[in-house]
Amino acid sequence: MIELINVTKVYGKDKVAVDDVTLTINDGEIFGFLGPNGAGKTTAIKMITGITPLTAGDILIDGKSIVRDALEAKQLFGLVPDDPNVLLRLKGIEYLNFIATVYDVPKDARDERIKKLAKKFNLSNDLGNRIETYSHGMRQKLLVIGVLLHDPNNWILDEPMTGLDPHSSFVMKEMMREHADNGNTVFFSTHVLEVAEKVCDRIGIIAKGKILFVGTVPELREFLHADESDKSLEQLFLELVGDE
Ligand SMILES: Nc1ncnc2c1ncn2[C@@H]1O[C@H](COP(=O)(O)OP(=O)(O)O)[C@@H](O)[C@H]1O
Ligand SMILES: [Mg+2]
Repeated sequence: MIELINVTKVYGKDKVAVDDVTLTINDGEIFGFLGPNGAGKTTAIKMITGITPLTAGDILIDGKSIVRDALEAKQLFGLVPDDPNVLLRLKGIEYLNFIATVYDVPKDARDERIKKLAKKFNLSNDLGNRIETYSHGMRQKLLVIGVLLHDPNNWILDEPMTGLDPHSSFVMKEMMREHADNGNTVFFSTHVLEVAEKVCDRIGIIAKGKILFVGTVPELREFLHADESDKSLEQLFLELVGDE
């Protein structure tokens, strides 16, 4: 469970990237954080995961504050960041072993999980190569495997489908569903309504740092009067967030 309580982020003197956001993502649900580029999604995720400090408010991960109990809170989630260009000189397998060490995954469980996950994402033959030789999609998959490796309750993924091939994207969605169905929390951001529509139990729409809507996709249809309009949900959504 992830709770944002009156969270605000101001960059520099007056660039308000996230504006007084209050939001609860429950156990057992896939929550899509939806909004156009520049809406504040990545900034929110960086605050949830303790990468960037909050200007105001608080964030709780399974009840632990990322502000006050940062070390404990950080053990409770796995993050797939939007920029998968990490530790490029490491080999894939070195990165995964590094993550397993940081999160104290026992040696035997580690090897078995790496093998299974690499197979699932078609990455088995590449783990011996340096990450710098990987495509964007392969880097993304490696990060996903890293998160799954330490098996945290809360998954936080920033634009996870970007750059994934259709097969991996399908595997990703299936695993997100399975994780949520097991009573865990999946929080992911996307700027694509169609992606959110397909996989989310609930969505939150953010634009210019403010939450405009939280609910299910059918509730969004109702909110936008989609059934009475000759426009598509996508068009109505774009009008809501003020995108051209
Ligand atoms: N480090 C930063 N310094 C100043 N402004 C930033 C910084 N990071 C993001 N911003 C600004 O904050 C707003 C939200 O950005 P971001 O959180 O990356 O949005 P999204 O992930 O939804 O595309 C944008 O206007 C962006 O230009
Ligand atoms: Mg972003």
